[in-house]
Amino acid sequence: MRARFITLEGIDGAGKSSHLEFIRAWLGARKIEAVFTREPGGTALGEALRALLLAPATQVSLESETLLMFASRQEHILQVIAPALERGHWVVSDRFSDASFAYQGAGRGVPAERIQVLADWVQQGLEPDLTFLFDVDPAVAQQRMAANRELDRFELEHAAFHQRVRQAYLERAALTPRFCVLDSSRELAVIQQDIARRLTALMEAD
Ligand code: TYD
Repeated sequence: MRARFITLEGIDGAGKSSHLEFIRAWLGARKIEAVFTREPGGTALGEALRALLLAPATQVSLESETLLMFASRQEHILQVIAPALERGHWVVSDRFSDASFAYQGAGRGVPAERIQVLADWVQQGLEPDLTFLFDVDPAVAQQRMAANRELDRFELEHAAFHQRVRQAYLERAALTPRFCVLDSSRELAVIQQDIARRLTALMEAD
């Protein structure tokens, strides 16, 4: 079976983490070897950049923020994603380039064309086979997050920022067939049925 590259996206608090565990169990039950990873992060350099990028005290221009996201992504592709796919292992990444278009693009205001140049440069044609977009109203997401833990630099952004990020994701999804948009306000079990259906289709596709 050809290895597949799956990404998970959505605004903060949309519930990616619970579904990641479901996907891990689903692939495990089918003996599909998979690497689970995340962005920013996934490598030693990437995790160091993640700590800086997420720390509320960090002051950074929107240009440098974008470049650092792509520096993390470049290492991630070279060290983790491409080698795993070459070994025949599936890769499941908690976020990838769509997050840069949504957060740095729509959220911060970096022109999409500029982000596309960086995406083309680091990805060299590599694209996810399937992207799950967990979609939920930012107000609902905000409530989920506040109850859980301390907020990072992106989670601390105002409501309008999260609204722009959500819209950007939805617009991108509407134009890109690899997206599977999941209404994340539904019950976990119902969402997971949708995920399982989509994974089955992906596994059976040639
Ligand atoms: P997230 O994936 O939400 O992790 P956690 O569930 O542990 O909070 O955190 C990563 C944050 O980084 C998230 O707020 C979105 C942001 N981000 C970008 O702004 N641009 C990017 O390209 C990526 C990959 C993430």
